[in-house]
Amino acid sequence: MIKIDSSNLEKVKPPHGLQLHEVRLHAGFLPDYLKKIHDRKQGFYRVIDDSSALENIKKYAASVSGKFKSVVVLGIGGSALGALTLRDALCSSKNPVRMHVLDNIDPSFIQEVEDAVDYETTLFIVISKSGGTVETLSQYRYFKSKGAKHFVFVTDPIVGELRKIANAEKIQTFPVPPDVGGRFSVLTAVGLLPAALLGINIDELLKGAREMRDYFLKPDFEKNMPFQLAAMQYLLWQKGKSMNVMMPYSQRLFRFSDWFRQLLAESTGKEKKQGHKTLNVGITPINALGVTDQHSQLQLYSDGPNDKFFIFLKLKNPGPRLQIPGSVTFTELMHAEMAGTVEALTQCNRPNIVIDVDDIDAKTLGALFMLFQGATAFLGEFFGVDAFNQPGVELSKKLAREALKK
Ligand code: PA5
Repeated sequence: MIKIDSSNLEKVKPPHGLQLHEVRLHAGFLPDYLKKIHDRKQGFYRVIDDSSALENIKKYAASVSGKFKSVVVLGIGGSALGALTLRDALCSSKNPVRMHVLDNIDPSFIQEVEDAVDYETTLFIVISKSGGTVETLSQYRYFKSKGAKHFVFVTDPIVGELRKIANAEKIQTFPVPPDVGGRFSVLTAVGLLPAALLGINIDELLKGAREMRDYFLKPDFEKNMPFQLAAMQYLLWQKGKSMNVMMPYSQRLFRFSDWFRQLLAESTGKEKKQGHKTLNVGITPINALGVTDQHSQLQLYSDGPNDKFFIFLKLKNPGPRLQIPGSVTFTELMHAEMAGTVEALTQCNRPNIVIDVDDIDAKTLGALFMLFQGATAFLGEFFGVDAFNQPGVELSKKLAREALKK
């Protein structure tokens, strides 16, 4: 379903590339890192077995089938990016249900969505793990005051402002398990409920995630794709590649690179103590779209600072077979352009790998989510930081609340 081709790392000349035996040298850390991740008591790789949560979501989606023409997700960060990724990857513009994801409070964006929906036939899904994010709560209050009628909440099962509102106003809720962090929550109701309402096969999504989870939990380097990916990223970081460029050659996967951007940035960007020293570590994620950004960022990538590790996502079948008159198909053109870009970067000694994916369906997407979540968890252990907290984000939320009070 998914293959990692890391052969170009060996072609890139030292000190910029990586020999795979160098990566293998780190295989010994795998069992220890798996234990450390286990000890952090995070649920992102266990929640995909929660069959009762899954059944509740499916039951609800079936009960409202045909009732809503639009769904509006009110949420931000990890409470929005999963739904956006699922919508863009798996739904066409002809989907019977339209989904808007309001992940900003720009009034023009809010107005646009307000103008686009009919409250009779629109379901608002308010998603906030903490239940206290000011952007999301404000949007909820706004749409309620404007006459929106149908709401469900996805939030913490016990605490938080949203939970209080749900209890007081008897709004149906779906829980975000407390041991699953925002950016790791796409395979909980945070992503699954919007997906089910869009008609996406969430059984398949979880099936793909479980298959990848099996690799993630294997203490065997050769089989553990998430660990291999994390080891490559970490060793390249040690060689000065402090940035990661994810470049899908697929319009439908562009949002996936947005989702990964948050995951990588919030999980690895940390301050840590080493003896008396304070170290600031992390990988800066960048996303780019093939072929579009060949005409935008590629010059910098080829000849600018050699401080990036490139992950290309290649889709064997990115879309329908459209023939260019008298020439190849658009897929063939896209593949040729990608091959050219990858080869050019390799010749310029820019370390890169290609992740090959046949088709982008629910199962593959589930596996991709788990691949990168698992790799990010391992990366946290390589860095010696807690990949699951976000003190910087919390501080900004706290200061924003204080500023509002003033
Ligand atoms: O990953 C995270 O924890 C954050 O980016 C959150 O997803 C984001 O701040 C939204 O938080 P909440 O879901 O609590 O509204």
